[in-house]
Amino acid sequence: MINIDLDINRALDFVSKEQVEAYQDTINKHHHNLLHKTGKGDDFLGWVDLPASLGTEFLDEIKADADRLAKKSEVFVVIGIGGSYLGSRAVIESLQHQFAAFQSSDRPFIVYAGQNISEDYMADLIDLLDSKEYAVTVISKSGTTTEPALAFRIIKNHLEAKYGKQEAAERIIAITDKSRGALKTLADKEGYKTYVVPDDVGGRYSVLTPVGLLPIAVAGFDIHELVRGAVEMQAFNTTTSAIDENPIARYAAVRNALYNSGKTTEIMVNYLPTLYYLTEWWKQLYGESEGKEHKGIFPAGVSNTTDLHSMGQYIQEGKRNLFETVLNVEKSKRKMAIPMDEADLDGLNYLKGKTITEVNHNAQLGTALAHVDGQVPNLRISIPELNEQNLGQLIYFYEFACGLSGYILDVNPFDQPGVEAYKKNMFALLGKPGFEAETKAIMSKI
Ligand code: PA5
Repeated sequence: MINIDLDINRALDFVSKEQVEAYQDTINKHHHNLLHKTGKGDDFLGWVDLPASLGTEFLDEIKADADRLAKKSEVFVVIGIGGSYLGSRAVIESLQHQFAAFQSSDRPFIVYAGQNISEDYMADLIDLLDSKEYAVTVISKSGTTTEPALAFRIIKNHLEAKYGKQEAAERIIAITDKSRGALKTLADKEGYKTYVVPDDVGGRYSVLTPVGLLPIAVAGFDIHELVRGAVEMQAFNTTTSAIDENPIARYAAVRNALYNSGKTTEIMVNYLPTLYYLTEWWKQLYGESEGKEHKGIFPAGVSNTTDLHSMGQYIQEGKRNLFETVLNVEKSKRKMAIPMDEADLDGLNYLKGKTITEVNHNAQLGTALAHVDGQVPNLRISIPELNEQNLGQLIYFYEFACGLSGYILDVNPFDQPGVEAYKKNMFALLGKPGFEAETKAIMSKI
């Protein structure tokens, strides 16, 4: 059974049902191409049938490694950038206690490194690691990305100084290409346990490989359930590509219909602070997949009601090129009712006995109605609650819809040629060997 619902009714004042359904033939073609790996970028379609191919034994191995590292760590460092960290962070932060750093737990607190080049961040992290038992995973598919390589060099030195070379090696798991890249060479030389990022799965589609699964398991979440959810969505998706039956097809169709009617920015809206990184993961998935050849919906994100007090004004009354997709979670994990107050000086007794979630849902509905009145179409993805199974379904939902959307846009959703430009300039400026001509060229510009 799939637990994801997509309601597009609040977009139908802006694009007609017929305009959405006009995508059915195109969707059928691309759905087939994705499933049969015959579309653009077809050598990067390993994620399409990945969930069902993982198998219990492989997940057990990841969990055993995660438990081994968790047992000896108070802190676990996930080193990676982009698709090599956003997926695990999205799942972990959706599920963990929001003050996990201050809770006593038999699982380590997860921290992240290698996703920025901030000296202060790194120095602060080393302060933390000085006083904590810790272990590390270093994740880089290419094995050559500068940010995680820099972070790993520093953390490896620290780990070896703290525990000695042999124990340090026991505390590191490398996740990288099966044979290529500097990280693979280093891992082989130092004898680290390694997991492979499959050749045919790109970074932003890799959360259901060890890239995402190992950190999620270290944090204590159930990767078997996560994968079960993804398998359910994968299986359902193979049964139909009908826009009115399959929410994946419907999402791809309606967002393209909106795009073609001038709504060129999609805002993913959440109403729970735990979903901040899920939104970040979605932004990367869609931005890096669709934004090319001078085309693509710009993916933005807001966390409400926080951002209603900052971005709310723009969304209500700014440039009218926006549509919103709300990720609605029906049930909270915890219950807390609003208490009665005899004096009622704050005037809140009209809410007494209601839960905070009831208030949040009314804020959500009120906002959707106001934004639609302000000419912002509203899509709503709903899941019953935040748990591993539903997140697994949601991950596959977003991934497949992204592939479909990219194909509708007629781009290759599985490459990212544009991210090389900044790297080339940075290497030229830093004088990396092999970049002498670029250094000369860039120096003449500044
Ligand atoms: O989706 C992608 O391919 C990218 O975002 C990568 O995940 C990111 O650039 C990190 O690359 P790597 O894992 O090779 O270090």
